[in-house]
Amino acid sequence: MSNILYDDQVKYLTFLRNESKSLIKEMEIYAAKNKVPILDWMSAEFLEQLITIINPKKVLEIGTAIGYSSIRIASKLRKKALLDTIEKSKNNIKLAKEYIRRAKLTSSINILEGDALEIMPCLDKKYDLIFLDADKEDYEKLFHYSLMLLKKGGVLFVDNLLWHGYAAAKSVPESYTKSTKIIREFNKMFMNSTELQSTILSIGDGIGLGVKL
Ligand SMILES: C[S@@+](CC[C@H](N)C(=O)[O-])C[C@H]1O[C@@H](n2cnc3c(N)ncnc32)[C@H](O)[C@@H]1O
Repeated sequence: MSNILYDDQVKYLTFLRNESKSLIKEMEIYAAKNKVPILDWMSAEFLEQLITIINPKKVLEIGTAIGYSSIRIASKLRKKALLDTIEKSKNNIKLAKEYIRRAKLTSSINILEGDALEIMPCLDKKYDLIFLDADKEDYEKLFHYSLMLLKKGGVLFVDNLLWHGYAAAKSVPESYTKSTKIIREFNKMFMNSTELQSTILSIGDGIGLGVKL
């Protein structure tokens, strides 16, 4: 759960949360049991709201994992809109395909199998919304590729920018030192980009929201 909000706020918001579909619940349980990092439910709900507001025709996701956020995005897309989602882990791809089949969303989700660092430079479409949620070491390069693939006025949605609270913490455990440094550097770049109107929101694990200028 969130290390960004106080426990009382999280409990209260969880109490108010609407019932999710059973497949979504099942995926959240699977991810928690198997330690698959998926989007926090509050961030997922916020992302769904954005999809509804923006009504994107083309969405790109970098980091499918088991397909949790892919399903949440695609379930809010209008007819004929398409989600391309990139994943490099064969095991995750297998699980994602099965969940996407069960969600009856195979026609609106296209899994691009392989490393986003190799796939993104070969893409020739432009996207209305890009969701960046991959390995943090790759974030800087993936950020630049995302800017190239984002339409003017398009939205970049980036997860984990408060990094379990460590991005803003005075002391960081040894095991998080390297990743925290990467996130802090990324946040400076994200907030100072002249190509984006950017903000970081304290939802879930910290959401970066940038609109391409
Ligand atoms: C945080 S998980 C994605 C969670 C997913 N977006 C969700 O919320 O349900 C990150 C995923 O990105 C994949 N990944 C990391 N770096 C990648 C890269 N460079 N290219 C493709 N996939 C990558 C990992 O294998 C992992 O499955």
